[in-house]
Amino acid sequence: MKALENDLYLRVLRGEKVERTPIWVMRQAGRYLPEYRATRAAAGDFLTLCKTPDLACEVTLQPIDRFGLDAAILFSDILTIPDAMGLELVLEEGVGPVFNKPIRATADIDQLAVPDPEDELGYVMDAVRVIRRELDGRVPLIGFTGSPWTLASYMVEGQGSKDFRRIKGLMFESPDAAHRLLQVVTDAVIVYLKAQVVAGAQSLMVFDTWGGMLSTANYQRFSLAYMQQIVTAIKQDPITANTPIVLFTKGGGQWLEMMADTGCDGLGLDWTVDIAQARARVGDRVVLQGNMDPVVMNTGQAQVEQEAMQVLSGYGKHDADSKGHIFNLGHGIQPFAKPENMQTLVQTVQQHSAEFHRE
Ligand code: CP3
Repeated sequence: MKALENDLYLRVLRGEKVERTPIWVMRQAGRYLPEYRATRAAAGDFLTLCKTPDLACEVTLQPIDRFGLDAAILFSDILTIPDAMGLELVLEEGVGPVFNKPIRATADIDQLAVPDPEDELGYVMDAVRVIRRELDGRVPLIGFTGSPWTLASYMVEGQGSKDFRRIKGLMFESPDAAHRLLQVVTDAVIVYLKAQVVAGAQSLMVFDTWGGMLSTANYQRFSLAYMQQIVTAIKQDPITANTPIVLFTKGGGQWLEMMADTGCDGLGLDWTVDIAQARARVGDRVVLQGNMDPVVMNTGQAQVEQEAMQVLSGYGKHDADSKGHIFNLGHGIQPFAKPENMQTLVQTVQQHSAEFHRE
């Protein structure tokens, strides 16, 4: 395989000194892009897009072609694992993801088995292979998973939730069953991530979108402990040991030290975290990724430039004592974002970050 033309993103995650800050954006392939909406309309729906490797590849490359971002992220969803476990994912317009067969009893948990990534999830691995071929070494490809807690939340709630009453009910009333569920999901996540790396993913990210809904003690027991298993498994396997892994708990700003203790390479920060303080706390141990408020992308060019500079100067001058920074939003870019703001954001970061990297 030929060497990468732009490996800035991977060099930062390996702790190397770089000449500027790399940027990619969560949900960079999404509804704010007219070409994404066109491909999705032609496919019929979102899940067909995910399950058709050539189309998943097409939308993965759209933001790379248009904006010159420094990394591509596999176009898929975190809910592919529960779908492959038989819960039947559907995406309902206006509701979001829904499972036709959610977990409703502890007996349902004992029925769950780890899907074979090259069989039930073979379309994801095929997408990774096609994307690597079509990227042709331009930028690295990020693979990903949901965290076990976040996946279990959707599996038990059956859809998104505001109060998480079902999954938290299970956690408080039947902790053993909750742990059995989290363990089978963790086992599935580990083989899924390893298969993505074998198929060609060059870096990994764990999206713990709902870990921030937990108390600190329950975060440690029900979310972080399982992410720890994932990091340990990736680091222990010689096939994946050199693939960087980034953990992102939305709302997890108070737990950065514990998250860094897992041995992961980077931490995603949501926009509520002060990036200078995060750097002081854990910046010597992990790369920080983030953390501009995504809503800025729905406003004007001047606001985008100003807020991007705020994040860059918030992280501050790079030095040998800190691991580094990857620019991103604090959560996914929204459907209302203006595509031209993405151009402004990428240019601002790529041009103005260099001054923070000079001696
Ligand atoms: O970042 C990327 O560009 C890669 C693709 C990606 C998607 N989902 C595509 C998607 C990634 C990494 C995800 C992760 C994901 N999916 C998360 C974790 C990150 C986060 O946002 O917190 C979660 C919680 C999900 C579950 C999910 N999938 C929800 C809640 C929704 C609906 C909400 C919405 O934005 O409409 C989805 C659907 C989804 N996943 C879309 C995309 C582009 C929108 C689908 C569409 O085209 O209508």
